[in-house]
Amino acid sequence: MSRIGIFGAGYVGLVTGACFAELGHEVVLRDVLPERVERLRAGEVPIYEPGLDEVLERNRDRISFTLDVDEAVDGAGFLYVAVGTPPTYSGDADLSAVFAVVDELPAGVPGRPVVVMKSTVPVGTGEHVRARLDARGLTNVGYVSNPEFLAEGTAVSDFMRPDRIVVGSFDPADAELVVALHAGLDATVVRTDVSSAELVKLAANAFLSTRISFINEIANVCELVGADVVDVAQGVGLDHRLGPHFLRAGIGFGGSCFPKDVTALKQLAGNSGYPFLLLQAVWEVNELQKRRVVSKLQKRLGSLRGKTVVLLGLAFKPDTDDMREAPSRVIAYRLLAEGAEVRAWDPVARPDDLPGVELCDSVLEAVRGADAAVVVTEWPELRELATAEVRDAMAQPLIIDGRNLLDPEQARAAGFVYEAIGRPGRSTPNGEGRT
Ligand code: NAD
Ligand code: UGA
Repeated sequence: MSRIGIFGAGYVGLVTGACFAELGHEVVLRDVLPERVERLRAGEVPIYEPGLDEVLERNRDRISFTLDVDEAVDGAGFLYVAVGTPPTYSGDADLSAVFAVVDELPAGVPGRPVVVMKSTVPVGTGEHVRARLDARGLTNVGYVSNPEFLAEGTAVSDFMRPDRIVVGSFDPADAELVVALHAGLDATVVRTDVSSAELVKLAANAFLSTRISFINEIANVCELVGADVVDVAQGVGLDHRLGPHFLRAGIGFGGSCFPKDVTALKQLAGNSGYPFLLLQAVWEVNELQKRRVVSKLQKRLGSLRGKTVVLLGLAFKPDTDDMREAPSRVIAYRLLAEGAEVRAWDPVARPDDLPGVELCDSVLEAVRGADAAVVVTEWPELRELATAEVRDAMAQPLIIDGRNLLDPEQARAAGFVYEAIGRPGRSTPNGEGRT
């Protein structure tokens, strides 16, 4: 069993640490936020991630939390970097936290610990880190790129049952050490050079984002020609060459990674002299998609000035409290700019940085007297939104389903004016009008 120091106790660091402890390793998690470290030491999990608290609790005696770099490095065979790499104004990744970790590794670390890059970084970062380590005399420290593919909400099972483990190295011996650390997991291992591993991560996220923008454009065409994107996606996805995943049309992708990584890859290509036109379009389509909800509301309600619109779901996807780049932010500010009163409900996300948006404790409280409700996040509890109680509470029974979550026939039969994304209005079973 190995001793692993992990830098960054966020979504990736915590899940990685908890899961490596579950595999039997000893883990020291280091963060720079005193409050975060204190809460973790007290047994609190500072993020909402299903199943993570159980794994942390089960492995309490193998995991410790610290603010102290030396404590994380001492005796560790692996030094994982799991700090944030948010975009800068130029769209490039901000690597300041990554290099802060590299620079704070104590000079004269004994043995041959391997720095393992879990953070998503531009191609070339490994070369840069290697040079920085060498310049500091840390030539005994190995380096491996081991990108992370977990998704929030399913992070623990994604780590424990990965589709693949990508390990990019300068020295194959370092790669083998990292591969061995994953003993107990059943996964295909892809061994590459460092640059290729870095690009696998950006390409995977950009490709998934491309699928979403593609199906969103198909949805927009569906609305013009009277087709149903849910049926189209099913028919397309059953082709084994295409597969069914990431073909859910909606209000666009958000989160801390897709928007950031699409931009980062576009910038990386541009900086290298290649204009990545496809990703330009993926980005544009996504921006327009978030805003289409507002046009749908205007089509139904006319001017939004003084109208009350409720956002149901705020997090960028269900099963997380993460509000980073959530489409709800753009929709909320577009609505406020149009003069609407905006209320919101989310079962876990309670953002304190949405001024002008009234947060409500229940769906019923949120919809009372409202002119429209928009399903922004497909929380399972919203599936049965179209009840008589909700309809009677609203001033106008209008639902814009930004995630195609509800059953359209059921919603219309319950007396709602219901509009989804890329799904045609159909006659209700009792023959009442089209909406
Ligand atoms: P996060 O913001 O949740 O966590 C980062 C943590 O690093 C924070 O707690 C921060 O305080 C800490 N930190 C900053 N500087 C530090 C330092 N010098 N030493 C130790 N800790 C430090 O970020 P995240 O969502 O976990 O993402 C981390 C990286 O992983 C990013 O590059 C991201 O693109 C990538 N990634 C994220 C996901 C995801 O689902 N969130 C999935 C795959 C890859
Ligand atoms: C995504 C990837 O799925 C992970 O593999 C990757 O590791 C991670 O980014 C990362 O690099 O951080 P995540 O952002 O947690 O994970 O969530 P996803 O489930 O991929 O959803 C991203 C966004 O796309 C959400 O806003 C979601 O609503 C949207 N989406 C997803 C769609 O609009 N349609 C779909 O069919 C799928």
